[in-house]
Amino acid sequence: MNQSEILIIGSNGQLGKALQAKYPDARAVDSDGLDITDKQAVDAFDWSGTKIVINAAAYTSVDGAETPEGRLSAWRVNAEAVGNLTHPVWRNNIRLVHISTDYVFDGTQEEHNESEDLSPLSVYGASKAAGDLLASQVDSHYILRTSWVIGKGKNFVQTMLGLGEKGINPSVVSDQIGRLTFTSELVKAIDHLLTTKAPFGTYNVTNSGDSASWADITREIFKIAGYENSVTDTSTEEYYRGKEGVAPRPLQSTLSLDKIGSTGFISTDWKTGLKNYIEEEK
Ligand SMILES: NC(=O)c1ccc[n+]([C@@H]2O[C@H](COP(=O)([O-])OP(=O)(O)OC[C@H]3O[C@@H](n4cnc5c(N)ncnc54)[C@H](OP(=O)(O)O)[C@@H]3O)[C@@H](O)[C@H]2O)c1
Repeated sequence: MNQSEILIIGSNGQLGKALQAKYPDARAVDSDGLDITDKQAVDAFDWSGTKIVINAAAYTSVDGAETPEGRLSAWRVNAEAVGNLTHPVWRNNIRLVHISTDYVFDGTQEEHNESEDLSPLSVYGASKAAGDLLASQVDSHYILRTSWVIGKGKNFVQTMLGLGEKGINPSVVSDQIGRLTFTSELVKAIDHLLTTKAPFGTYNVTNSGDSASWADITREIFKIAGYENSVTDTSTEEYYRGKEGVAPRPLQSTLSLDKIGSTGFISTDWKTGLKNYIEEEK
């Protein structure tokens, strides 16, 4: 695989940055370089020489998407823009790598596999589900469904490290269950699918290991970072009581890793990923 044939879209995001670290010779564009909601700009973009498009761009503010402006942005970036990309991708015989989320499901199944019917609860989830349907219209597509993404930028681990450092003892939800996904793991999975030429389609990708609640994960963060702060369990209902504009969230986010496992990809345990991440960030 020649890196110069890769185009990374959404290069400033958590995943976009990790992709650039893995593929330093790839072409990478942020939203100033290519606003994918602008159909004319997408059509006029120079696609020559591109064989693989990795779309790491998204509107990712789950609660923001519940506001009138956020709803518009979520649908534009997560759905309409994916439709915009499918045209040049088709015309130029480009492979499309697109990223999806556990939020396309309602979280009633203990573990989600790739063939589960879409059942989003929130505007963000619905807009991402629409994006999946559009991306899957391209024959040569990989849709990677992932959950609880942690990379360079603002994320849950960073927030908790900040609270830990300040000596705050947080109350954290204990009834949302899932697994973290480090961007390093996502990038490894993307590279694996592309280099092994795995069959096109949808694949779940997260770190492996026991599913855990956000409260359990916070305890693990504090343990690894050497903070003695305590963590109090709370329910999603209790945590959000009285707060307005909060999106409904799936309670069970664990994604089955059997399908990508069958292609020979072995995920790293999230606790190992967390330890490596905290050591790098400190
Ligand atoms: N974060 C999570 O917990 C999570 C969980 C499951 C799945 N995912 C999925 O994983 C993927 C990567 O997420 P992430 O956490 O890396 O996202 P992120 O850090 O929020 O980055 C998203 C990027 O998309 C870019 N973008 C937004 N609108 C754009 C537009 N119109 N044109 C071009 N670029 C645009 C943004 O660029 P600017 O900064 O220039 O605006 C931003 O850099 C997304 O598909 C997301 O839905 C994320």
